[in-house]
Order: sequence, then structure tokens, then C-alpha cells
Amino acid sequence: MLADKHILLVIAGGVAAYKCLDLIRRLREQGASVRCILTKGGSQFVTPLSVASLSGEKVYSDLFSLTDEAEMGHIRLSREADLVLVAPATADLVAKMAHGIADDLASTTLLATDKPVMIVPSMNVEMWDKPATQRNMATVERDGVLRIGPNSGDLACGEEGAGRLAEVDEIIDGIAGFFSAGTGPLAGKRALVTSGPTHEPIDPVRYIANRSSGKQGHAIAAALRRLGATTTLVTGPTNEADPWGVTVHHIETAEQMMLACTQALPADAAVCAAAVGDWRVATSAKNKIKKNGATPILELVENPDILAGLSVRNENRPQLVVGFAAETENVVAYAQQKRARKGCDWIVANDVSVGTGVMGGDHNKVHLITSNETTAWPTMNKIDVADKLAGLIALHLGAPTTKS
Ligand SMILES: Cc1cc2nc3c(=O)[nH]c(=O)nc-3n(C[C@H](O)[C@H](O)[C@H](O)COP(=O)(O)O)c2cc1C
Repeated sequence: MLADKHILLVIAGGVAAYKCLDLIRRLREQGASVRCILTKGGSQFVTPLSVASLSGEKVYSDLFSLTDEAEMGHIRLSREADLVLVAPATADLVAKMAHGIADDLASTTLLATDKPVMIVPSMNVEMWDKPATQRNMATVERDGVLRIGPNSGDLACGEEGAGRLAEVDEIIDGIAGFFSAGTGPLAGKRALVTSGPTHEPIDPVRYIANRSSGKQGHAIAAALRRLGATTTLVTGPTNEADPWGVTVHHIETAEQMMLACTQALPADAAVCAAAVGDWRVATSAKNKIKKNGATPILELVENPDILAGLSVRNENRPQLVVGFAAETENVVAYAQQKRARKGCDWIVANDVSVGTGVMGGDHNKVHLITSNETTAWPTMNKIDVADKLAGLIALHLGAPTTKS
């Protein structure tokens, strides 16, 4: 199943580190070669000798090793792998990854790698639940890191809850799933997602924009990809990293977004999460408008309606078109009206009024509005909203294929 795959396993200082010995054995049974980096913390829980014996390879621990670094060990290790797996991933190491800290061999290799990274977190339930840990997890996932677990249950510390290392079988399944890309409930399907704001130029230095961060749209693109969809993301300017494994088109204006979406068709599902500017300046100035003249009056014209455009019933229409409605009052009623007006299938409605912290925040509270029902979802992390929506999209699409 994993024949000829090279896995670089980073073992961090968690009490579940002993399970990685079995993981190494199982990975090798599947045909993978496993090279290991042991953090200082990790070496308190498993010995380099047992890791070396099971992996059949030298174990790496020291960033400043004269012998290893003569060959730039941290770069070489990260380049020669097909996948960098961190198991157990401690709260500490994930925090370093989230902040780009590189102060030992493991964290430096993780920062230097150009390969996909998968983490298997394991920690005490309180550590897992802490906002700092949740923020760091969300950050690394947005940066494209894949995550397996953690599970809930009895923890080694004697407490109970979320934070248990995923079972070795689950880890092997996750890795196998990663390598057998193109499988999953959305395998063979194409998804188009829009995200972020648009920037409508006034002159070469000024523009009209909105507060959309792109966090929700990017998370949806990543979630659809995780389920196996061939995913294209058309995004306005955001601070979000391109989701791993997704084809990303960066645009600035609504007109550019419309064009990029049209070019990305056909698709089985389109999710329009971008906050597209409703208007643009009729004629943006070629040169910077100077302050010393009369106060300019901006003439605005309507932008193309991307959601309505994708929803038009023609042969290019995606089987499922999902829009977003960001409202500050009468959220559900306005969103229901929007669904009917645009001709889309579903609308995800969210309240973006100032007190909610939804715009730019990590959480979202949405209603899903379909032709026959409106469902209120609890407040969730945007990544969880994305996973839930992607799951429903997969259920809705069933098995038909995309036109080519
Ligand atoms: C007995 C013991 C068990 C620990 N178990 C965990 C754990 O399961 N998960 C975790 O995130 N940290 C755990 N820690 C804390 C980490 O070892 C500590 O944060 C360390 O700095 C991690 O270093 P590393 O991330 O470089 O491996 C444990 C510490 C001790 C002393």
C-alpha cells in the first residue's frame, strides 16, 4: 500500500510517543521507508536506539550536528521524504509550526520542508482545548498541514476527553488516503470555490474593499479537497495561505473573479464564499487622484453577479451552486430571499454584524438554507463549518461524473 514511499517521522515529546514504535513497524510492513527525527522531548519517552532498530535507519536529533549538517541535514531530510509525519505532535511543536519557530532540528526541518506535512496531535484534554492550541491548529491547517485526530477517550494522564493520539490503524489509513489521492467521497468531482474580498480600484493606489478575510472560503476549498474533489479556488486578496493541493487563482476585482470562475468550469459544485464588491468605480483614474483639486465624486456601476451567473440554468451550470449571504440584520429572511433571487441551490447565511466577530474571526455561526429547509448550525470553528458543508455537498452529489 505504501511501497516506495519515504516518510520522515518527527517524534515529539508526548507520552504517546511509545506508540510511534508500532507505527514505524506498521509503516515498514506496508512497504514505506521511515526516517526519524527525535525531539529532545521525544527522547525522554523513546530511546534513539529503539527508534533506530525499528526504522533500520540512523535517528536524527541534533540541528548542529557537525556530521549531519556538513550535508545540510535539515534541508536534505525534508527534501528526501514524500511526506513529513509528526506523531505525536505536541502542543509545543504545533505552536512552533504555527509561528514559524525553528530552534531545533524538528522545527527547522518542518519550516524548511517543501513536502506535505501531516500531524497527529496528542495531549491532555485541557492542553487541547486551550484557545492557544486551537488557534495554532487552525493556523497550521490553513497553512496546508493535514491533521489526523486527536481522538476522544481515556488519556494517559488519567483524564478523559479529546487529545488521545489517533490509533495506529487510523494513522496508516490517513497516510494511505493521502497517497491514494483521487479517492474519497468527492473523488472524480470538480469543485469551484470563491473566497476573500474584491478590490475595486479608484486609482492606481486606492480601492474599494470589504472586511472579508477569506478564512471561511479557503477552509471550504481545503475541506472539499480533503474529500477528494479536484478543487479550484478563486480568491481576492487575503492573508490566507493557498490551501495545499488546491489550484488557486488570485484575482483582485469582481470582473476578474467572474472571468476566472467561468474559465474554471465545468464543475460539479460551486461554493461562492467570496464577498464580491457590489459596485466598482465606473472609470478608475489612470493616475493617482490629487488632493489639491475638487473633492472627487465617484460614479459607481454594478459589478457582475457571480453567484447569479453560475446559477443560470444552462449546460455549464454546476449541479450544486452554494452561495453565502453575509447579513447584519434579518439574516435568515434576507438570505432566503437571496437564494430565490440568485437561483442558487443552497445559501449559507451568516450574521456579520460588528459584535459577532465573524468577519476576520476564526468562528462562524451559520444557517444552511435549502429549497425546503433552514437549519441553524451551532457556533463552530470555520474549519469545522467547512468540513460539515463539504460532507453535505458530498452526500448531495452522490456519484455522477463531471462533463469534460
Ligand atoms: C510526562 C510528560 C508527558 C507529556 N505528555 C505530553 C503530551 O502528551 N502532549 C504534549 O503536547 N506535551 C506533553 N508533555 C509536554 C512536552 O513534553 C513539552 O511541552 C515539551 O517541551 C515538548 O517538546 P517537543 O515539542 O520539542 O517534543 C509531557 C511532558 C511530560 C513531562
